Amino acid sequence: MKQPATDTARQTPRRITIADVARMRAEGRRIAMLTAYDFPTAQIVDEAGIPLILVGDSLGEVLLGYDSTVRVSMSEMLHHVKAVTRGARRALVTADMPFMSYGLTPEESVRNAGAFLAEGGAQAVKIEGGVRSARTIEAIVRSGIPVMGHIGWTPQAKHGLGGKVRIQGKTRDQARALLADALAVQQAGAFSIVLELVPEQLATAITERLRIPTVGIGAGPGCSGQVLVINDLLGLGDFTPRHARRYAELRETMQAAVRAFVSDVESGAFPGPSETVRMEDAVLEDAIGRSPLDQPAAGAVAGVPLDRDL
Ligand code: KIV
Repeated sequence: MKQPATDTARQTPRRITIADVARMRAEGRRIAMLTAYDFPTAQIVDEAGIPLILVGDSLGEVLLGYDSTVRVSMSEMLHHVKAVTRGARRALVTADMPFMSYGLTPEESVRNAGAFLAEGGAQAVKIEGGVRSARTIEAIVRSGIPVMGHIGWTPQAKHGLGGKVRIQGKTRDQARALLADALAVQQAGAFSIVLELVPEQLATAITERLRIPTVGIGAGPGCSGQVLVINDLLGLGDFTPRHARRYAELRETMQAAVRAFVSDVESGAFPGPSETVRMEDAVLEDAIGRSPLDQPAAGAVAGVPLDRDL
């Protein structure tokens, strides 16, 4: 007999799995993915119904102020992955493996990938590189960890790719190499693959030739899904990449809020009665008025006692 759902079961949404992702592709449903780097953002995007969350190493640039994702460490990634997985209850959370955390030896790659699941609470990891990363992907997948591939513009290889952010795959040889990369990632067992900064027609052609879904960023509408960096979508940065769309202007909204707060503090308008707690005047009189500690402030310039160590 069917058991009635418990309160907990009713309140805890079912986690999206890689089987669901495969089903979405099979049913022709486009897949949305967003980056998130912290607990409240993860909660918000999860509650808004995003099926896939990527804790991207883009956090190095958009959150930590580094000049490149190459600077991001395992411990920094783990810190943010833990925060995101505490906030996301339904979305499948993929942790981006940072530069040099994979690809040296299969053992180390598997150990680091495992840490994102065991310690971080993620459900999958993402790895940059096609043919060059295929053996690493295979080793991680064999250990039971779902892997999302990432080819095209791969920011961790930026120095090897000429240092400047560039569309990948525009020439015949590059286009062929990109298809070979995609097939190698699929063959290695990845459940999906990010195509970054790839011409629309090539991204579509690759998508049509794969069994696994592609998730595009700057790769046109022919991919199985789309991913954006959340800061770009929310309009938090002072720069928007050409491929991104700003769905909000939070930078301006935040600046306006901060300006209003500063002005209210300076004018005395904040805090007001509704943001303030009062007590019985008689209790105050009893506690303070009759206390030996009740002395007027000494000297005209009251405040921080600069003659003491604080
Ligand atoms: O780090 C990241 O945010 C990414 C996406 C741009 C795909 O890799």
